[in-house]
Amino acid sequence: MAQEDVFKKIVAHCKEYGFVFPSSDIYDGLGAVYDYGQNGVELKNNIKQYWWQSMVLLHDNIVGIDSAIFMHPTIWKASGHVDAFNDPLIDNRDSKKRYRADVLIEDQIAKYEEKADKEVAKGRKRFKEAFDEAQFRATNPRVLDYMAKRDALHERFAAALEANDLEELRQIIIDEEIVCPISGTRNWTDVRQFNLMFATEMGSTADGASKIYLRPETAQGIFVNYLNVQKTGRMKLPFGIAQIGKAFRNEIVARQFIFRMREFEQMEMQFFVKPGTELQWFETWKKTRMAWHQALGFGQENYRFHDHEKLAHYANAAADIEFKMPFGFKEVEGVHSRTNFDLSQHAKFSGRKIEYFDPETNESYTPYVIETSIGVDRMFLSVMCHSYEEQTLEGGETRVVLHLPAALAPTKLAVLPLVKKDGLPEKAREIVNDLKFHFNTQYDEKDSIGKRYRRQDAVGTPYCVTVDHDTLTDDCVTLRDRDTMEQQRVRIDSLRALLEDKVSLTSLLRRGAQIG
Ligand code: GAP
Repeated sequence: MAQEDVFKKIVAHCKEYGFVFPSSDIYDGLGAVYDYGQNGVELKNNIKQYWWQSMVLLHDNIVGIDSAIFMHPTIWKASGHVDAFNDPLIDNRDSKKRYRADVLIEDQIAKYEEKADKEVAKGRKRFKEAFDEAQFRATNPRVLDYMAKRDALHERFAAALEANDLEELRQIIIDEEIVCPISGTRNWTDVRQFNLMFATEMGSTADGASKIYLRPETAQGIFVNYLNVQKTGRMKLPFGIAQIGKAFRNEIVARQFIFRMREFEQMEMQFFVKPGTELQWFETWKKTRMAWHQALGFGQENYRFHDHEKLAHYANAAADIEFKMPFGFKEVEGVHSRTNFDLSQHAKFSGRKIEYFDPETNESYTPYVIETSIGVDRMFLSVMCHSYEEQTLEGGETRVVLHLPAALAPTKLAVLPLVKKDGLPEKAREIVNDLKFHFNTQYDEKDSIGKRYRRQDAVGTPYCVTVDHDTLTDDCVTLRDRDTMEQQRVRIDSLRALLEDKVSLTSLLRRGAQIG
C-alpha cells in the first residue's frame, strides 16, 4: 500500500477509535486545530508522563514549572519573536493558495532522495540476494545523478537561508520547476515574510488595552523564571527547568494532520550551564534524548539527527531528531545550544541582573543554555504511525492492531466475561475493581469475544483476560497477548505481578537510562 494511503488510514483510525477528532467537528472543523478523544488523551498523558519522569524524576538537578500562557508583551520583543518569528511565504496566482517557500524546496530535496531510493529498490528486486546496497549507491549512474542534484539544491537552499535572500528562494522554486499542487502551474508571486504569533488584547479599551501574544513556545516562560527557580530552589549550575504546555503559531501551511498545528503542546527543558561547557552538554543532551526515543523500541533505523545548516543568530549548535513518518523523515524534537542570548536579552529589556554567582570561582556570569524541545502532538503522531498495522492472519482474516508500547497504551488490560450470565460478569468486575488501582483496566462485555479482542487490538490494549466458567472454580483466567495473540492460563492473583512491570513506565525509563 502506498505510504500516502497508510497515512490516510491512520488519520481515519484516530477518529474512529477516539484518539483524535477535528476541533469543532460539528461545525466542520477549524483548520489545523484538533481535539484528543477518550483514548487519545490517555496516550497523550502517558507520553507526557514518560517525558516528565525521565526529566524531572530521574535527574536530581532538573525541576519543573508551569508558567502562564499570557506573558508580558516585552518578552516577545526581547526574545526576537516580534521582529523575526517569520516564515517565508509564496502564493500561487492561479490557485490563490499560499505555501511556505522553504517547505516547497525541502519537499523537492526529499523528492530527489525518494527517486534515488526507488532505484535502490529496483536494484534489490533485480539482484536479489547478491544485492550490495552500499556498492549500488556508490556506482549506479541514476542514483549518483539524483544525489548530486539533491546536494546541489541543498547547498543553494542553505546559502539562500543563511543570507535571508527571499529573491533567491523564489528563483530556486522557478529553476527547480516546482508547481503548485492544486493548479499545477508555476505562476508564483514574490516571497514575503509573515509573522507567526497570534495577538490578542488584554484589558478593556477604556483602561488602555495592551496587545499581548499567545506564546509561540513555552521556553520563554522558563527563561523569565530562571531567577525565581534558581534562588528559591538554591539550584547550582548545571541545572535544568522543565515545562509542558500549550504553544500557538499561526501556521500558514498547516498540513499532515497533527504534525503542524496552530495550537499544540510542547515539552521543553532549558539546561543552564557554565559558559564554555555548552558544546559538551549539547552532545550529552543529544545522546540522552535519542536514547529516550529509542527506548520505545521502534528501531534505530527510523531515527536520525539532522544538523542545522542555518543556525539562529543566538545559537552555536542545533540538531533535530527526525523520525521516519509515512511522509518521510521529519523533525520531532530539537536540541539547541542557545548561548546566553535569551537571559541576556531579558536582562537588557527588564533592567534586572540575571546572572549566576559561581561559588567555585567567585565570579558572576550569565549562564549558557542547552534546550531540548519536543512537540507532544508530533511525538503522538510518530507513535501512532509506527504502531499501526493491518495484519493478515492465517486463514486470510485481517485485523487492525496498534502495537503501542505497553507503557503508553491507553488501556493496559481489558477484562472480558465470556458470556453475560452465570456470574461471569460479576467475577470479571471483581478483577477490574482490584486491578484498576494499579493500572488502567477496562471491563467489556458487548459482542462476541472475537469482536472484543479486535476492538482492544485496534486501540492498542496490550493484554486481555477472559473470564469463563472454569474461572468460577479454579480462579484462573485466559491471558491474551495483543501482538502474538498467544493465550495462557494464569491465576487471577498472579495477574498484577505478571503485568505491572510490563505496563508501567518503569521499565521504559530504565531502558532509556541504559541506552543513554
Ligand atoms: N523553543 C524552541 C522551539 O520552539 P521549534 O523547533 O520551533 O523550537 C520545537 O519547536 C518542537 O515543537 C518541534 O520539534 C515540534 O515537535 C514542535 N512543533 C513546532 N511547531 C509545531 C506545530 N506547528 N505543530 C505541532 N508541533 C510543533
